[in-house]
Amino acid sequence: MTRILGFLAAAGLLLVPLAGCMTPAPGGDHAGHNMGTGGGEARLTTFDRSVAGLPSARPMEEVRLENGSTFALTASVVRHDAGGGKEIRMFAYNGQIPGPLLRVDAGSTVTVDFRNDLPLPSTVHWHGVRLAQRFDGAPGVSQKEVMLGQSFRYVVTFPDEGLFWYHPHVREDLAQELGLAGLIVVDRAGEEGPRELPIVLDDVLLRDGDVETFWKEAVNFALMGRYGSTFLTNGRPSHEAATSPGERVRLLVANVANARPFNVSVEGAASVELIALDGGFLRAPAPFGSVILGPAERATIDVVMPASGDVRLVHRGEGDARGLATLRVDASRPTLSDPGAPAAPHERAKASLSAAIARSGTPVNATWDLTVRLAHSMPGGHGSGAGHAVPIEWESETAMGMQMTDANVTWIIRDPALGKENHQLNYTVPEGSLWRVRIRNPADSPHPMQHPIHLHGQRFLVDTIDRRANPYPAWRDTVMVPAGSEVTITIEATNPGTWLFHCHISEHLEAGMEGMLTVTEAAG
Ligand code: C2O
Ligand code: CU
Repeated sequence: MTRILGFLAAAGLLLVPLAGCMTPAPGGDHAGHNMGTGGGEARLTTFDRSVAGLPSARPMEEVRLENGSTFALTASVVRHDAGGGKEIRMFAYNGQIPGPLLRVDAGSTVTVDFRNDLPLPSTVHWHGVRLAQRFDGAPGVSQKEVMLGQSFRYVVTFPDEGLFWYHPHVREDLAQELGLAGLIVVDRAGEEGPRELPIVLDDVLLRDGDVETFWKEAVNFALMGRYGSTFLTNGRPSHEAATSPGERVRLLVANVANARPFNVSVEGAASVELIALDGGFLRAPAPFGSVILGPAERATIDVVMPASGDVRLVHRGEGDARGLATLRVDASRPTLSDPGAPAAPHERAKASLSAAIARSGTPVNATWDLTVRLAHSMPGGHGSGAGHAVPIEWESETAMGMQMTDANVTWIIRDPALGKENHQLNYTVPEGSLWRVRIRNPADSPHPMQHPIHLHGQRFLVDTIDRRANPYPAWRDTVMVPAGSEVTITIEATNPGTWLFHCHISEHLEAGMEGMLTVTEAAG
């Protein structure tokens, strides 16, 4: 991070830090301070942080939704201890952090009556679910924001088996950080698999016992994203689950953090296999070492428990290791023998991926370059990161983050052939086609770092990574592109409508890093 500091200072971009003003006034909106943005001055106000009268959040509960049923989903304000040792003001779906785990059968349609009881607008986005465009939850693209006290009826269809999730699509930097995220597990009716354990990975940035300041008028931490100081698994700073000796358990791991990538490994197991990435099963279970999950990415991991002892899920960043969860063998339970992973989902994945895999190496339809613009007066071509780029930033320097807002940082997806970027991009893609994109993340951009790129409404194959064939082809909806890397993806255009693609670091999305793609209905 330090490399950027000199660069910003040289460019006159360092804002006057007003540390005293960053503390929210008790219960109020008057902690404003002035921020020079090269033009006028913006008054920044904070959000209410009071907890008086709020109910305590409950842990995630699983709810099974039958085809044709209606489910009420309410976002509201709760109190919850997110690891700082006291209950603070947080957001919850149906009073739960994380939100309820929704379990459905593939092919189901469920009506979700969403109600917004939050003091800011919201929507629900069904991440990775190929549903009708008008229920996609993208404000300004598929629907209007749902205001405080208002409702919106989503009709959600679940065509694909696998692991998905839901979250708001308004001020994700704030709403997701405060707890709004829930898993969706889509089963195949009549098929059994190992016992599933949800592992929702998150982090939260705490200062003086409360969340670091959010502003109403600007998104802070816009450069690197809001990396947390406290790790959370299923909304709590530590997580344990009990298992039988020898049991095969299936971990449903999702990264719902704003910005932090997790590098997940499993220690102490009798065996570990990678089963699926995002919503898509691999063509066969694969030997597992570790997996890096960017924000919004998921991994399904099978763990065969030893006869005794603990299995630990560990995050390894740069030079540190942090425990994410502990699976304990309960020796009083009978020993189970491992039936192996069911083969059917992998066989279906193999068959449905084959047409996209056969396109490997064919010309791409578009190129997306990932870069950043720092204020309007920035001299071009300085590339302060040149020669220093690391593929993945495991930690962020938070002291500077407050000063980097969407007013002075613009993150960019640019198509060099079209000479267009972000909102200027809206590709036309015929339904039924396989549409290929090369995503490049140059190591010499003004601030090279990883970006998890997500496409709404369709699924895609990650075809190549740094010009080599992807060893784990699967249907994905998000792909993390490290600094200095290049990936090609093959989008299966099946779902008509206009859809967002964007970086899933919440603050990068807020700082402009999104474009659109319109799948046109096939004639006839
Ligand atoms: Cu999960 Cu547009 O995002
Ligand atoms: Cu990004």
